[in-house]
Amino acid sequence: MRILLATSELHPYSKTGGLGDMVGALAKYLAKKGHQVGVVTPLYRGIREKFPEIKRFEWLLAFQLGTEFVRGGVWTIQPQENLTVYFIDQPRFFDRDGIYQGSTGDFVDNAERFTFFCKSIVNLARYLPLQPEIVHLHDWQTGLVPLLIRHDFETGGWGDPPLHCLTVHNLAYQGVFEASKFALCNLPWEYFTAAAAEFLGSFNFLKAGICIADQVTTVSPTYASEIVTPEFGCGLEAVLSELRNPVKGILNGVDYEEWNTRQNPHLMQPYDSGHMDGKRANKLALQKQLGLSERADAPLFVNVSRLVEQKGADLQLEAIQWLLDLDVQFALLGKGDALFEEGFSMLAAKHPGKVAVTIGYDHALAHRLEAGGDFFVMPSRFEPCGLNQMYSLRYGTPPIVRDTGGLADSVTDARDDAGKVNGIKFREPRSAALKQALFKALAVYHDQPVLGRLRRNGMRADFAWEHVATHYETLYREMKKRPRPALPKPEVDRSA
Ligand code: ADP
Ligand code: GLC
Repeated sequence: MRILLATSELHPYSKTGGLGDMVGALAKYLAKKGHQVGVVTPLYRGIREKFPEIKRFEWLLAFQLGTEFVRGGVWTIQPQENLTVYFIDQPRFFDRDGIYQGSTGDFVDNAERFTFFCKSIVNLARYLPLQPEIVHLHDWQTGLVPLLIRHDFETGGWGDPPLHCLTVHNLAYQGVFEASKFALCNLPWEYFTAAAAEFLGSFNFLKAGICIADQVTTVSPTYASEIVTPEFGCGLEAVLSELRNPVKGILNGVDYEEWNTRQNPHLMQPYDSGHMDGKRANKLALQKQLGLSERADAPLFVNVSRLVEQKGADLQLEAIQWLLDLDVQFALLGKGDALFEEGFSMLAAKHPGKVAVTIGYDHALAHRLEAGGDFFVMPSRFEPCGLNQMYSLRYGTPPIVRDTGGLADSVTDARDDAGKVNGIKFREPRSAALKQALFKALAVYHDQPVLGRLRRNGMRADFAWEHVATHYETLYREMKKRPRPALPKPEVDRSA
């Protein structure tokens, strides 16, 4: 099949979280299966310097963006057979520090930046020699593409446009802007209705995509069932539950070529379930690097996370404090809300040798924490999929997670299946519930046979991308068999 993916983050070129990992791996494994794959992503500051093999592509982007005429270019690289990445070059929009925000918050021109990005995706989908059969979009930054494609199909002479699939990686980020920004699309205002881009009077990128895409997916089966409820739907539960084709949940995978303990340039010593002494060496090296007391016997809880409410940063901060009277250690790598950054930094200052907090983004340290820790703590309030818990399973570092979304689907605790137990789950999004789970972990830590079982089961769990790519292949094939639905007809012209 000929498939074009589009994303605002793509590992190894750009990443703030799991979106980059997911699309990078999906592209890689679809290409490995022999599909012709293209990926469209912005050319952010520093990418060309880091990857000098990226070459200019003879392509001119030139669109009306509201009343302004904006041009851009395209750069390209072929990282492997069957895979080409197209970088959208628009220096005013993308050559700046940060992907979505600067030091003072979200960039004020995000609507302009990502409308331009969506128009670029459509231009490539229409005119590239690849002529994709499927355009697979990811998150709100690509949400206008289905509408733009369908409009060109109905009015712009695009005879046989590709089918479009939209994957929602996180419903909490919808790309909501004031209504006037809809003019950037240069589409008729009839689309600014409840049937497409309007929601509660605002312009909503993600909703436009959800309403028009041929198929909506999300990144775990449990999150797919959660987002049609008010608790998790972020206001869009009714829209999501009324879709012609129900939202499909496909659990993300792990790229084991990168996230493994046997051949990993970031680790001090390789190890696997038969050679766990290597894990001990990684723990001691990590403690040394982070200034923790170098003690193999002290249970070490670790976390790598965006420091935001979604991830339960507040629950963690509170629950860990209760534990620190005991002989335990805690190490965290994260970046996010200033309040949490300060809270964790203060905790580290108060407990030298016991708590280590690194504020920032550090890929190598993320691997070392997964390998050197004894338990990975992930108390997310909601978690569409979550990758770190799957990485930690492979690294023999049992995860402690809240029983929600992709965490529920990837971690097995004693209540789920005592024979396959590989982690600890708790239900209530409260620090007291997390505290109980942490105490349970301490009991496990001091019971070597039980700890060994959790580690072995976790290291054996198989979330390989090869399997996940097959699920997407099947979905694309199903989509191709369906009749193409008509574009929902506008209800009222709100501009009148
Ligand atoms: P989310 O995408 O919601 O942040 P995921 O668990 O899906 O959560 O993915 C997070 C990814 O980002 C993982 O690869 C993780 O290692 C990485 N990551 C998050 N924060 C940092 C950080 N501060 N430094 C390095 N890597 C990080
Ligand atoms: C989002 C979600 C996370 C998911 C990732 C990749 O960032 O918050 O749960 O793992 O996307 O799909």
